Amino acid sequence: MKSKPEVLPVRVIGDKILRTKALDVLDDSEELQEFIQDLILTMYEDDGVGLAAPQVGKSLRIFVVDPYWYREGHEKNPLVFINPEFKEFSGEDIEDEGCLSLPGIYAKVPRAERVIIEGLNEKFKKIRFEAEDMFARSLQHEYDHLDGILFIDKVAPLQRAMFVRKLKELESGTDENGVNIKRKEHEDN
Ligand code: CO
Repeated sequence: MKSKPEVLPVRVIGDKILRTKALDVLDDSEELQEFIQDLILTMYEDDGVGLAAPQVGKSLRIFVVDPYWYREGHEKNPLVFINPEFKEFSGEDIEDEGCLSLPGIYAKVPRAERVIIEGLNEKFKKIRFEAEDMFARSLQHEYDHLDGILFIDKVAPLQRAMFVRKLKELESGTDENGVNIKRKEHEDN
């Protein structure tokens, strides 16, 4: 057994796992619990507000979100979702998004303003949230990762044109096995 969680390498666009539909989680296990702790730690260490399992190389339907932790007066409160499902979408909203798998790229993405989501938490207990604003947005963003969808897929073509070069540059880091691990020089430039 591992003594403490570790930071996992984050996959960058070009990595084939980011475009693969993830599989349902079937069983709990010690290994899975350790992975969830690693996922949570990696999200915070990389200054993310959400992170999905495929982004760290595991094709499972799990993500973690904590949309407000970096704000003044907020404490860390990671919410783990296993096999999540949306029950309702309402309203419309367009806001800037970024993604740890798309370092340096930000764009306005249309999303539902409010959602209802159900799933299991890390203890495999049923959970249900009615979310809005940034919380709803991060749930939709992370959920998309489980289906191999990235936020750039939802951006208007004109806006997309502005970061085509950056995308190509990021994708060029992909190795012959279809793996593209985030490098230091990718970060925020
Ligand atoms: Co993302």
